[in-house]
Amino acid sequence: MDADTRAETPSQQRRRTGQSGTERGRQLDGVRMLIIGASSGIGEACARAAHAEGARIAVAARRVDRLEALAHQLNGAAHVLDVADYAAVKTVVRDVAENFGGIDVIVFTSVVVPLAHVEHVDAATWAHAFAVNAIGPAVVLRDALPFLSRDAVIVVASTHDVGRPRAGVSAYNASKAALDEILTSWRTEHPHLRVVRVAVGPTDDTEILRGADRDLLDELFERWEINGQASFEMSRAADVAGTIVSLIAAARANPSVITEVVKLAPCPGTPHTSEQ
Ligand SMILES: NC(=O)c1ccc[n+]([C@@H]2O[C@H](COP(=O)([O-])OP(=O)(O)OC[C@H]3O[C@@H](n4cnc5c(N)ncnc54)[C@H](OP(=O)(O)O)[C@@H]3O)[C@@H](O)[C@H]2O)c1
Repeated sequence: MDADTRAETPSQQRRRTGQSGTERGRQLDGVRMLIIGASSGIGEACARAAHAEGARIAVAARRVDRLEALAHQLNGAAHVLDVADYAAVKTVVRDVAENFGGIDVIVFTSVVVPLAHVEHVDAATWAHAFAVNAIGPAVVLRDALPFLSRDAVIVVASTHDVGRPRAGVSAYNASKAALDEILTSWRTEHPHLRVVRVAVGPTDDTEILRGADRDLLDELFERWEINGQASFEMSRAADVAGTIVSLIAAARANPSVITEVVKLAPCPGTPHTSEQ
Protein backbone atom coordinates (compact mmCIF):
# COMPACT_ATOMS: atom_id res chain seq x y z
CA MET A 1 0.00 0.00 0.00
CA ASP A 2 1.58 3.34 -1.03
CA ALA A 3 1.25 6.64 0.84
CA ASP A 4 -1.47 7.91 -1.53
CA THR A 5 -3.54 4.77 -1.03
CA ARG A 6 -3.07 4.88 2.76
CA ALA A 7 -4.44 8.46 2.74
CA GLU A 8 -7.68 7.37 1.03
CA THR A 9 -10.99 7.63 2.78
CA PRO A 10 -13.21 4.51 2.77
CA SER A 11 -15.50 6.14 0.20
CA GLN A 12 -12.52 6.91 -2.08
CA GLN A 13 -11.25 3.37 -1.59
CA ARG A 14 -14.63 1.93 -2.63
CA ARG A 15 -14.63 4.14 -5.74
CA ARG A 16 -11.03 3.14 -6.63
CA THR A 17 -11.36 -0.59 -6.08
CA GLY A 18 -14.93 -0.90 -7.26
CA GLN A 19 -15.34 -3.17 -4.20
CA SER A 20 -19.02 -3.75 -3.63
CA GLY A 21 -20.75 -4.09 -0.31
CA THR A 22 -21.18 -7.82 -0.99
CA GLU A 23 -17.46 -8.41 -0.65
CA ARG A 24 -17.39 -6.65 2.75
CA GLY A 25 -20.74 -7.91 4.08
CA ARG A 26 -23.56 -5.53 3.21
CA GLN A 27 -25.15 -3.40 5.91
CA LEU A 28 -28.49 -2.72 4.18
CA ASP A 29 -29.19 -5.85 2.19
CA GLY A 30 -32.71 -5.68 0.71
CA VAL A 31 -33.67 -2.59 2.73
CA ARG A 32 -36.37 -0.59 0.90
CA MET A 33 -35.25 3.01 0.77
CA LEU A 34 -36.77 6.23 -0.59
CA ILE A 35 -34.38 9.17 -0.99
CA ILE A 36 -36.02 12.53 -1.64
CA GLY A 37 -33.65 15.20 -2.97
CA ALA A 38 -31.48 12.62 -4.75
CA SER A 39 -30.74 14.45 -8.01
CA SER A 40 -27.56 16.05 -6.61
CA GLY A 41 -25.35 16.52 -3.59
CA ILE A 42 -25.79 14.59 -0.37
CA GLY A 43 -29.03 12.90 -1.46
CA GLU A 44 -27.45 11.51 -4.62
CA ALA A 45 -24.40 10.38 -2.63
CA CYS A 46 -26.72 8.67 -0.09
CA ALA A 47 -28.46 6.78 -2.89
CA ARG A 48 -25.09 5.55 -4.21
CA ALA A 49 -23.77 4.64 -0.76
CA ALA A 50 -26.97 2.81 0.24
CA HIS A 51 -27.04 0.91 -3.05
CA ALA A 52 -23.42 -0.20 -2.43
CA GLU A 53 -24.65 -1.59 0.91
CA GLY A 54 -27.40 -3.62 -0.76
CA ALA A 55 -30.43 -1.32 -0.35
CA ARG A 56 -33.22 -1.21 -2.91
CA ILE A 57 -33.44 2.38 -4.07
CA ALA A 58 -36.22 4.77 -5.12
CA VAL A 59 -35.09 8.33 -5.81
CA ALA A 60 -37.18 11.51 -6.03
CA ALA A 61 -36.66 15.18 -6.91
CA ARG A 62 -37.63 17.49 -9.78
CA ARG A 63 -34.85 16.99 -12.39
CA VAL A 64 -36.04 13.92 -14.23
CA ASP A 65 -33.00 13.43 -16.49
CA ARG A 66 -30.61 13.20 -13.54
CA LEU A 67 -32.95 10.97 -11.54
CA GLU A 68 -33.48 8.54 -14.39
CA ALA A 69 -29.73 8.26 -15.06
CA LEU A 70 -29.10 7.63 -11.35
CA ALA A 71 -31.94 5.13 -11.01
CA HIS A 72 -30.64 3.27 -14.06
CA GLN A 73 -27.15 3.01 -12.51
CA LEU A 74 -28.58 1.80 -9.20
CA ASN A 75 -31.17 -0.55 -10.65
CA GLY A 76 -33.77 1.57 -8.86
CA ALA A 77 -36.82 3.67 -9.61
CA ALA A 78 -37.02 7.40 -10.39
CA HIS A 79 -39.98 9.54 -9.26
CA VAL A 80 -40.35 13.13 -10.38
CA LEU A 81 -41.47 15.11 -7.35
CA ASP A 82 -41.76 18.71 -6.23
CA VAL A 83 -42.13 18.35 -2.45
CA ALA A 84 -44.09 21.60 -2.32
CA ASP A 85 -46.80 19.85 -4.35
CA TYR A 86 -48.39 17.94 -1.49
CA ALA A 87 -50.80 15.95 -3.66
CA ALA A 88 -47.79 14.70 -5.66
CA VAL A 89 -46.01 13.72 -2.42
CA LYS A 90 -48.93 11.44 -1.52
CA THR A 91 -48.91 9.81 -4.95
CA VAL A 92 -45.15 9.24 -5.03
CA VAL A 93 -44.99 7.84 -1.50
CA ARG A 94 -47.88 5.48 -2.25
CA ASP A 95 -46.31 4.37 -5.57
CA VAL A 96 -42.95 3.68 -3.92
CA ALA A 97 -44.60 1.75 -1.10
CA GLU A 98 -46.68 -0.32 -3.52
CA ASN A 99 -43.66 -1.11 -5.71
CA PHE A 100 -41.54 -2.14 -2.73
CA GLY A 101 -44.34 -3.64 -0.63
CA GLY A 102 -43.53 -1.15 2.19
CA ILE A 103 -40.79 1.33 3.10
CA ASP A 104 -37.94 0.73 5.57
CA VAL A 105 -35.94 3.96 5.23
CA ILE A 106 -36.65 7.50 4.08
CA VAL A 107 -33.86 10.02 3.61
CA PHE A 108 -35.01 13.60 3.01
CA THR A 109 -32.40 16.05 1.68
CA SER A 110 -34.48 18.36 -0.56
CA VAL A 111 -33.71 21.98 0.11
CA VAL A 112 -34.13 25.50 -1.18
CA VAL A 113 -31.77 28.26 -0.02
CA PRO A 114 -33.01 31.68 -1.09
CA LEU A 115 -30.20 34.23 -0.67
CA ALA A 116 -31.37 37.75 0.18
CA HIS A 117 -30.98 40.35 2.90
CA VAL A 118 -33.80 39.82 5.36
CA GLU A 119 -35.57 43.09 4.45
CA HIS A 120 -35.74 41.93 0.81
CA VAL A 121 -37.31 38.52 1.42
CA ASP A 122 -40.83 38.66 0.02
CA ALA A 123 -43.80 36.67 1.26
CA ALA A 124 -43.64 34.15 -1.59
CA THR A 125 -39.98 33.41 -0.82
CA TRP A 126 -40.68 32.85 2.89
CA ALA A 127 -43.60 30.60 2.00
CA HIS A 128 -41.63 28.56 -0.54
CA ALA A 129 -38.71 28.01 1.85
CA PHE A 130 -41.11 26.72 4.51
CA ALA A 131 -43.04 24.67 1.93
CA VAL A 132 -39.94 22.77 0.74
CA ASN A 133 -37.69 22.67 3.81
CA ALA A 134 -40.18 22.22 6.66
CA ILE A 135 -43.69 21.31 5.48
CA GLY A 136 -42.31 19.02 2.73
CA PRO A 137 -40.74 16.53 5.17
CA ALA A 138 -43.76 16.78 7.50
CA VAL A 139 -46.10 15.80 4.67
CA VAL A 140 -43.75 13.02 3.50
CA LEU A 141 -43.79 11.55 7.02
CA ARG A 142 -47.57 11.82 7.29
CA ASP A 143 -48.14 10.12 3.95
CA ALA A 144 -45.50 7.45 4.54
CA LEU A 145 -46.70 6.49 8.04
CA PRO A 146 -49.17 3.76 6.94
CA PHE A 147 -46.47 2.11 4.81
CA LEU A 148 -43.50 2.21 7.19
CA SER A 149 -42.09 -1.04 8.55
CA ARG A 150 -41.92 -1.42 12.32
CA ASP A 151 -38.17 -0.70 12.46
CA ALA A 152 -38.29 2.11 9.89
CA VAL A 153 -35.62 4.82 10.00
CA ILE A 154 -36.29 8.39 8.84
CA VAL A 155 -33.28 10.64 8.26
CA VAL A 156 -33.91 14.32 7.64
CA ALA A 157 -31.06 16.69 6.80
CA SER A 158 -30.88 19.89 8.82
CA THR A 159 -28.01 22.30 9.38
CA HIS A 160 -25.44 23.33 11.99
CA ASP A 161 -26.59 26.89 11.71
CA VAL A 162 -30.03 26.61 13.34
CA GLY A 163 -30.11 29.20 16.12
CA ARG A 164 -27.29 31.31 14.65
CA PRO A 165 -28.41 32.34 11.15
CA ARG A 166 -25.85 33.82 8.80
CA ALA A 167 -26.62 37.04 6.97
CA GLY A 168 -28.64 36.49 3.78
CA VAL A 169 -30.14 33.08 4.57
CA SER A 170 -32.99 34.04 6.90
CA ALA A 171 -35.71 32.09 5.09
CA TYR A 172 -33.54 28.95 4.96
CA ASN A 173 -32.62 29.15 8.64
CA ALA A 174 -36.12 29.94 9.83
CA SER A 175 -37.53 27.01 7.86
CA LYS A 176 -34.84 24.66 9.24
CA ALA A 177 -35.66 25.80 12.79
CA ALA A 178 -39.32 25.00 12.08
CA LEU A 179 -38.25 21.64 10.66
CA ASP A 180 -36.40 20.78 13.87
CA GLU A 181 -39.56 21.47 15.91
CA ILE A 182 -41.63 19.36 13.51
CA LEU A 183 -39.22 16.44 13.90
CA THR A 184 -39.39 16.80 17.69
CA SER A 185 -43.18 16.62 17.48
CA TRP A 186 -42.92 13.42 15.43
CA ARG A 187 -40.65 11.89 18.07
CA THR A 188 -43.00 12.99 20.87
CA GLU A 189 -46.14 11.63 19.25
CA HIS A 190 -44.61 8.54 17.60
CA PRO A 191 -41.84 7.51 19.99
CA HIS A 192 -41.32 4.12 18.31
CA LEU A 193 -40.32 5.87 15.04
CA ARG A 194 -36.60 6.39 14.49
CA VAL A 195 -36.60 10.01 13.31
CA VAL A 196 -32.99 11.14 12.98
CA ARG A 197 -32.17 14.80 12.51
CA VAL A 198 -28.74 15.05 10.88
CA ALA A 199 -27.29 18.56 11.29
CA VAL A 200 -25.00 18.75 8.28
CA GLY A 201 -21.98 21.05 8.23
CA PRO A 202 -20.31 22.70 5.22
CA THR A 203 -20.12 20.07 2.49
CA ASP A 204 -18.33 19.94 -0.86
CA ASP A 205 -19.69 18.45 -4.13
CA THR A 206 -23.24 19.73 -3.71
CA GLU A 207 -25.41 22.24 -5.58
CA ILE A 208 -26.82 24.00 -2.54
CA LEU A 209 -25.85 27.43 -3.93
CA ARG A 210 -27.03 26.63 -7.46
CA GLY A 211 -28.35 29.81 -9.06
CA ALA A 212 -27.04 32.10 -6.31
CA ASP A 213 -26.21 35.70 -7.25
CA ARG A 214 -22.37 35.65 -7.13
CA ASP A 215 -22.07 39.35 -6.24
CA LEU A 216 -24.47 38.97 -3.35
CA LEU A 217 -22.68 35.80 -2.28
CA ASP A 218 -19.31 37.62 -2.22
CA GLU A 219 -20.85 40.42 -0.15
CA LEU A 220 -22.43 37.93 2.25
CA PHE A 221 -19.22 35.95 2.57
CA GLU A 222 -17.45 39.08 3.83
CA ARG A 223 -20.19 39.48 6.46
CA TRP A 224 -19.88 35.81 7.44
CA GLU A 225 -16.12 36.26 7.86
CA ILE A 226 -16.60 39.33 10.08
CA ASN A 227 -19.12 37.36 12.17
CA GLY A 228 -16.83 34.31 12.37
CA GLN A 229 -19.34 32.23 10.39
CA ALA A 230 -17.44 31.68 7.13
CA SER A 231 -16.61 28.03 6.50
CA PHE A 232 -13.22 27.18 5.07
CA GLU A 233 -13.26 23.49 6.00
CA MET A 234 -15.63 21.21 4.08
CA SER A 235 -16.72 17.60 4.39
CA ARG A 236 -17.07 15.60 1.18
CA ALA A 237 -20.61 14.67 0.13
CA ALA A 238 -19.59 11.01 -0.27
CA ASP A 239 -18.27 10.94 3.31
CA VAL A 240 -21.40 12.65 4.68
CA ALA A 241 -23.47 10.06 2.81
CA GLY A 242 -21.30 7.21 4.11
CA THR A 243 -21.89 8.50 7.64
CA ILE A 244 -25.65 8.73 7.10
CA VAL A 245 -25.79 5.17 5.72
CA SER A 246 -23.79 3.94 8.75
CA LEU A 247 -26.28 5.68 11.05
CA ILE A 248 -29.15 3.93 9.31
CA ALA A 249 -27.40 0.56 9.57
CA ALA A 250 -26.62 1.18 13.25
CA ALA A 251 -30.24 2.11 13.98
CA ARG A 252 -31.47 -1.10 12.35
CA ALA A 253 -28.87 -3.27 14.09
CA ASN A 254 -29.50 -1.81 17.56
CA PRO A 255 -33.28 -1.62 17.95
CA SER A 256 -33.29 -0.54 21.61
CA VAL A 257 -31.46 2.70 20.79
CA ILE A 258 -32.89 5.67 18.92
CA THR A 259 -30.41 8.22 17.60
CA GLU A 260 -32.30 11.51 17.63
CA VAL A 261 -29.83 14.22 16.65
CA VAL A 262 -26.44 13.94 15.01
CA LYS A 263 -24.11 16.81 14.16
CA LEU A 264 -21.63 16.29 11.33
CA ALA A 265 -18.66 18.66 11.23
CA PRO A 266 -15.87 18.92 8.66
CA CYS A 267 -12.58 17.36 9.71
CA PRO A 268 -9.97 20.18 9.57
CA GLY A 269 -7.25 19.79 6.96
CA THR A 270 -9.18 17.54 4.57
CA PRO A 271 -8.42 18.78 1.03
CA HIS A 272 -11.43 19.97 -0.99
CA THR A 273 -12.42 17.62 -3.81
CA SER A 274 -11.15 20.15 -6.39
CA GLU A 275 -7.67 20.11 -4.75
CA GLN A 276 -7.16 16.34 -5.01
N1 LIG B 1 -23.97 21.52 1.28
C1 LIG B 1 -23.81 22.09 2.45
O1 LIG B 1 -22.78 22.75 2.69
C2 LIG B 1 -24.86 21.92 3.53
C3 LIG B 1 -24.63 22.54 4.78
C4 LIG B 1 -25.59 22.40 5.79
C5 LIG B 1 -26.73 21.63 5.56
N2 LIG B 1 -26.92 21.03 4.34
C6 LIG B 1 -28.16 20.28 4.15
O2 LIG B 1 -27.94 19.10 3.40
C7 LIG B 1 -29.14 18.79 2.66
C8 LIG B 1 -28.78 18.45 1.22
O3 LIG B 1 -28.25 19.59 0.58
P1 LIG B 1 -27.14 19.49 -0.58
O4 LIG B 1 -25.99 20.29 -0.09
O5 LIG B 1 -26.95 18.10 -1.00
O6 LIG B 1 -27.84 20.37 -1.73
P2 LIG B 1 -28.16 20.08 -3.25
O7 LIG B 1 -27.01 19.45 -3.96
O8 LIG B 1 -28.68 21.38 -3.78
O9 LIG B 1 -29.36 19.02 -3.21
C9 LIG B 1 -30.65 19.44 -2.88
C10 LIG B 1 -31.68 18.53 -3.52
O10 LIG B 1 -32.96 19.10 -3.25
C11 LIG B 1 -33.77 18.93 -4.41
N3 LIG B 1 -34.86 19.89 -4.40
C12 LIG B 1 -34.80 21.24 -4.37
N4 LIG B 1 -36.04 21.75 -4.41
C13 LIG B 1 -36.89 20.69 -4.45
C14 LIG B 1 -38.30 20.55 -4.52
N5 LIG B 1 -39.11 21.63 -4.55
N6 LIG B 1 -38.83 19.31 -4.53
C15 LIG B 1 -38.04 18.21 -4.51
N7 LIG B 1 -36.71 18.27 -4.43
C16 LIG B 1 -36.14 19.50 -4.42
C17 LIG B 1 -32.77 19.14 -5.56
O11 LIG B 1 -33.21 18.53 -6.76
P3 LIG B 1 -34.15 19.17 -7.90
O12 LIG B 1 -33.67 20.57 -8.12
O13 LIG B 1 -33.90 18.23 -9.05
O14 LIG B 1 -35.55 19.08 -7.38
C18 LIG B 1 -31.57 18.38 -5.04
O15 LIG B 1 -31.70 17.01 -5.36
C19 LIG B 1 -30.07 19.98 2.83
O16 LIG B 1 -31.04 19.68 3.80
C20 LIG B 1 -29.17 21.09 3.34
O17 LIG B 1 -29.86 22.00 4.16
C21 LIG B 1 -26.02 21.16 3.33
